[in-house]
Amino acid sequence: MPRGRFITLEGTEGVGKSTNLATVVRAVEDGGYPVVSTREPGGTPLAEEIRGLLLGVREEAVDATAELLLMFAARAQHVATVIEPALARGDWVVCDRFTDATYAYQGGGRGEDVQAIAALEALAHPGLQPDLTIYLDIDPRQAALRIEGREHDRIEREALDFFDRVRRTYLERAAQYARFRTIDAGRSLDAVTADVQRVVEELLARSP
Ligand code: TMP
Repeated sequence: MPRGRFITLEGTEGVGKSTNLATVVRAVEDGGYPVVSTREPGGTPLAEEIRGLLLGVREEAVDATAELLLMFAARAQHVATVIEPALARGDWVVCDRFTDATYAYQGGGRGEDVQAIAALEALAHPGLQPDLTIYLDIDPRQAALRIEGREHDRIEREALDFFDRVRRTYLERAAQYARFRTIDAGRSLDAVTADVQRVVEELLARSP
């Protein structure tokens, strides 16, 4: 049984990530592979509890390093108990956000040290990188208009300049790593979905 493929979906709030995640899952299923669809932070009972700790709005200010470590605590559990076993048995894994989100949010957004993030990455998932990362790109101002009235988690409550830094980091990483496909998500959902479908089909065509 060949090892499964690992696809991650990234983007800032209001970019249409949930809808497009469903498109990715359907495209992989249509390609004939079993799929595990999961998310970060979360994806296991323990990691979902950590998600609750991370995203709940609270009076106590959350230290940026504590936030970073909780993200990786959740991720280590998720990789060890869900992602790696699934890939090993030949399933494809589609994950709503992964470590690129930590570089973007905790690194770009919060200013946490990139070397520290890289060290935690090497500890939490040595040797594991996505085969394909779909980055849905949008101007945070346009996204903010789309999600007006929606409930925001603790991190989504940050100001626009935070999301500008998050976006800049995603774009830098997309330029740096060949596994990225950047899709302009400022267009109609139909246009975005067609592009998402196409990049998944490209990966399917390259798979045994
Ligand atoms: P979601 O809204 O896509 O489910 O993501 C949950 C929130 O967690 C979102 O505000 C982005 C944030 N996040 C980080 O800050 N760092 C990370 O590594 C991940 C995976 C998510």
